[in-house]
Amino acid sequence: MENNIYLDHAATTPIDPRVYEAMQPYFTEKFGNPSSIYQTGQIARNAIERARLEVANILGALPDEIIFVAGGTESDNLAILGVARANQHKGKHIITSKIEHHAVLHPCEQLQREGFEVTYIPVEKNGIVDPEKVKDAMRDDTILVSIMYANNEVGTIQPIAKIGRTCKKRGIPFHTDACQASGALPLNVDKLHIDLMTINGSKMYGPKGVGALYIRKGTPIKPIMFGGEQEKKLRPGTENVPGIIGFTKALQLAEESREKESARLTDLRDYMIKEILTRVPRTELNGDPIQRLPNNVNVSVLEIEGEALLLRLDMKGISASSGSACTSGSLDPSHVILALGKTHFVAHGSIRFSLGKSTTKKDIDYVLEVLPKIVDDLRAISPIIV
Ligand SMILES: Cc1ncc(COP(=O)(O)O)c(C=O)c1O
Repeated sequence: MENNIYLDHAATTPIDPRVYEAMQPYFTEKFGNPSSIYQTGQIARNAIERARLEVANILGALPDEIIFVAGGTESDNLAILGVARANQHKGKHIITSKIEHHAVLHPCEQLQREGFEVTYIPVEKNGIVDPEKVKDAMRDDTILVSIMYANNEVGTIQPIAKIGRTCKKRGIPFHTDACQASGALPLNVDKLHIDLMTINGSKMYGPKGVGALYIRKGTPIKPIMFGGEQEKKLRPGTENVPGIIGFTKALQLAEESREKESARLTDLRDYMIKEILTRVPRTELNGDPIQRLPNNVNVSVLEIEGEALLLRLDMKGISASSGSACTSGSLDPSHVILALGKTHFVAHGSIRFSLGKSTTKKDIDYVLEVLPKIVDDLRAISPIIV
């Protein structure tokens, strides 16, 4: 293929070679089981504990408050199911938002089947959760609030410090899904008033299938899986040692380059949004123009199907997404775009470009060059009647 322009970093990122290098010995010579008491095991154990300390330092937390898990979905499930089930004697009401990832929404639906009540806070037109609405939804029997840090589809950054402060005042545990935030936003759990935070490796140039859950000391939580004693029994099973080492190295690198890379991507993002809206008629930006992840461009191109556009872009060597990667394969419009108050018609034409470390202005200019023609062609054959 002539061009290969990857603009789907919100789905996943390639592993940084420094991360790969840090992981390698733990596949081969340092292969021990961290639970074994002989030296080979202890080498792996020490590496995990050093990693835990490093992650804790970045989050401004204690090492004891970090649980390594198998990715963002597992972390969200543990936080939501674990805290709800541990606190049900105090109440059975949970608050979340309509634009959460399915890794949060589906455990909430499971809890509803178990007799819990869930309030789904709507978002404003710009995709932001109003902290006042969260505050107004709080009740004496509210036992958990879960609002994501940054949205994976439209990139909106939520006012989680404000929400966290209210939760703290009311003594309600506050969970945030920060899978899209690492490398872009500060992660200090005290400054953000967070009790539980989900992060994963695959969006920050780390390995897939590994992540962490931060759990503030004293937060009641029950396991959702049963087996060995690992990770304080909250994540039983032999630890994914290379994964944990890679996850930690990726987080370290993401934090080091956060400010500089965010500034670079913000400029590229704003350029791309402005030019798409100018060069392609009948397009709308989804999400907030400012309170937005530095790498997220999400637009609805009216009168066409996002999937058709994706395929045509792919033929030109451009990888993008028509929503969350987890929902591709289904033709239902994105629940996030619908939550912004947009019609099915507008939601169907949504497309997300998510920029990353390798993205250059030249890449963006290439997309801007080919996109208007593809849209014209698709509109000419579009079966959608306005
Ligand atoms: C906001 C958010 N939460 C959770 C997840 C799920 O993470 P994982 O794929 O590591 O299970 C993702 C990944 O797409 C995400 O973007």
